[in-house]
Amino acid sequence: MFKALHLTQRDGKTEALLRDFDDADLPPGDVTVRVAYSSLNYKDALAVTGRGPVIRRWPLVPGIDLVGTVERSDDARWKAGDAVVVNGWGLGETEWGGFAQKARLSGDWLLALPPQIAPWDAAAFGTAGYTAALCVMALQRHGLAPSDGPVLVTGASGGVGSIAVSLLAGLGYTVTASSGANAAQAETLRSLGAAEVIDRAELGAPGKPLQRERWAGAIDTAGSHTLANVCATLRWNGAVAACGLAQGSDFPATVMPFILRGVTLYGINCVFVPNDTRRRAYELLGQYVPLDRLRAISTEVGLTEVVAASHDLLDGRRKGRAVVAVDR
Ligand SMILES: NC(=O)c1ccc[n+]([C@@H]2O[C@H](COP(=O)([O-])OP(=O)(O)OC[C@H]3O[C@@H](n4cnc5c(N)ncnc54)[C@H](OP(=O)(O)O)[C@@H]3O)[C@@H](O)[C@H]2O)c1
Repeated sequence: MFKALHLTQRDGKTEALLRDFDDADLPPGDVTVRVAYSSLNYKDALAVTGRGPVIRRWPLVPGIDLVGTVERSDDARWKAGDAVVVNGWGLGETEWGGFAQKARLSGDWLLALPPQIAPWDAAAFGTAGYTAALCVMALQRHGLAPSDGPVLVTGASGGVGSIAVSLLAGLGYTVTASSGANAAQAETLRSLGAAEVIDRAELGAPGKPLQRERWAGAIDTAGSHTLANVCATLRWNGAVAACGLAQGSDFPATVMPFILRGVTLYGINCVFVPNDTRRRAYELLGQYVPLDRLRAISTEVGLTEVVAASHDLLDGRRKGRAVVAVDR
């Protein structure tokens, strides 16, 4: 017997229950993993509370991340005892996710845990950290160098944002953090490596199609007017990697920044990404995000606390990263 958080839907409402399961209840798959940790991302919070249409197969165990140890494998690439991490691939959306003490899944989805990253830290990075790395890699592919000028990160005190700030700073970029943070949270952003913290209200309202050139590059987790204003304030040939919709899924912009300033907008989706790219993302995180900084923005919650923590995350009462310890 093992425990998992189980989501069902009744009369259009999501119900989350911590339930006992047997191995026979696990979905088909060639590798069984004893899960140690998951993490709580924005998407998980939407799924668990039913406040966003994340779950596309009912009933389901949520959790888009998991870190654990292979218990049994029919896949020659994996053996019992291997330490693994899984992010995305539909976990917690269409596939049994990580808010469980066990999972059974395709060997194609597993990544060997990089030796320099401990299981708890891998969960603290989770999808948020790995997505931050994908955003940074898109800007690097664009050719953005630290000497080109400041790089903006929006939603900076969130999971993706705070790790993006730390990773960019670790790589030598000058980082401006845009945030609704209070003074203490702004101080945390500076300790992560932000050279400047600006009020997110500066970017959150409708703005002109082209504005004063400010940033050489940007990572946007907010969407909506924030992303439109980011595009309008990027420097000549600048680029933004857009991954989120914390302000909204709309994009009320004009083509002006693209056709008059040569601005490039990169879309980031972390769910279906080849494993080679994932490995490079983790290498970047392991090398350039100091673990003491990661731990300073991460807290631990038990499986029993996930529902309350999800409401806190969506209502802005929880910042940074939450590691889910599935054994408590
Ligand atoms: N595309 C992908 O593959 C992918 C992967 C991971 C995450 N995401 C998306 O990226 C976004 C961030 O994810 P996360 O896990 O970092 O979430 P999170 O921890 O909840 O952080 C979101 C942050 O956005 C900021 N924010 C909240 N409401 C806002 C508003 N009305 N206007 C502007 N900013 C606002 C807040 O930061 P401040 O207080 O600092 O402003 C908040 O901490 C989410 O939309 C998520 O769905 C996408």
